[in-house]
Amino acid sequence: MHRQQIVILGTGGTIAGRAESASDNVGYTAAQVGVDQLVAAIPALAEAGPVLTEQVAQIDSKDMGFAVWARLAARVNHFLAQPDVKGIVITHGTDTIEETAYFLHAVCRPAKPVVLTCAMRPSTALVPDGPQNLLDAMAVARHPDAAGVVLVCAGTVHGAVDVQKVHTYKLDAFSSGDAGPLGHVEEGALRMSRNWPSVPVDPVGVAIKTVSELAEPDRWPRVEVVMSHAGASGAVVQALQAQGVQGLVVAGTGNGSLHQDLEAALLQAQAAGVRVVRATRCPNGRVLPAPKDKIPDSQGLSPVKARIALMLRLMAPA
Ligand code: SIN
Repeated sequence: MHRQQIVILGTGGTIAGRAESASDNVGYTAAQVGVDQLVAAIPALAEAGPVLTEQVAQIDSKDMGFAVWARLAARVNHFLAQPDVKGIVITHGTDTIEETAYFLHAVCRPAKPVVLTCAMRPSTALVPDGPQNLLDAMAVARHPDAAGVVLVCAGTVHGAVDVQKVHTYKLDAFSSGDAGPLGHVEEGALRMSRNWPSVPVDPVGVAIKTVSELAEPDRWPRVEVVMSHAGASGAVVQALQAQGVQGLVVAGTGNGSLHQDLEAALLQAQAAGVRVVRATRCPNGRVLPAPKDKIPDSQGLSPVKARIALMLRLMAPA
């Protein structure tokens, strides 16, 4: 393998999408174009240095599942262990990219850069955004100081812990909320506003297993997200409990507050051994804990990321 190689792993998404017409930015099919084709269409990518591509999956990321995550994490660790690999870029759909980023952050804990990127328009669009995002992601992966799992979209670099998709169709669809972005890619040059994410020793609060030790994907614990809202009841919690759910993340209102009927059902489930975590449905801010809290808070994680952290915790040795 060449010095300073960047490995590009393809997983599908709109960046690999195709539409019938170049003017159609929404009526397309995701995950149609191979990662090698995406790379071949951008000569500047290979001009900057050696690139290796591998198609790990080819899916619309709304259908992301544990088997692809396990395979992706294993390939990430495989390539990062090779001394000549400088970093990894992953092409991914925007819909669950923040979950994959957090999963890789928690499980792979890479010191080298793992840069996820995506597109809001299909590859066939009149003005696709994928090629520039891929170029920007490569610039970040090649940066001498780059480290950890980050997401690059619309010239902005976000950290895996804070990033969320916040818009349904705009090209700049992501936000890092109160934390703010890590930096920006400007004409191929990186300008950082914050430090690179530090390598998390124990990101989910327990000594989690490495990816090779994770259970078979079909045996990962069942953790579901429920939401508090006007008129919420405990019915969903009771139904999930009857099905043997092992963990529940509740997206509470405001500072993690819960409808009294939902809270009663969650406390009952918790007393029966279901692990319950309280996040907020607010896109910004975090649940601030109080001594009287009966349900632990998500430590600043969004509901979908708190779900991943809880799943990993439930897989860790007691
Ligand atoms: C997907 O998430 O795979 C489709 C949507 C997108 O990439 O924007």
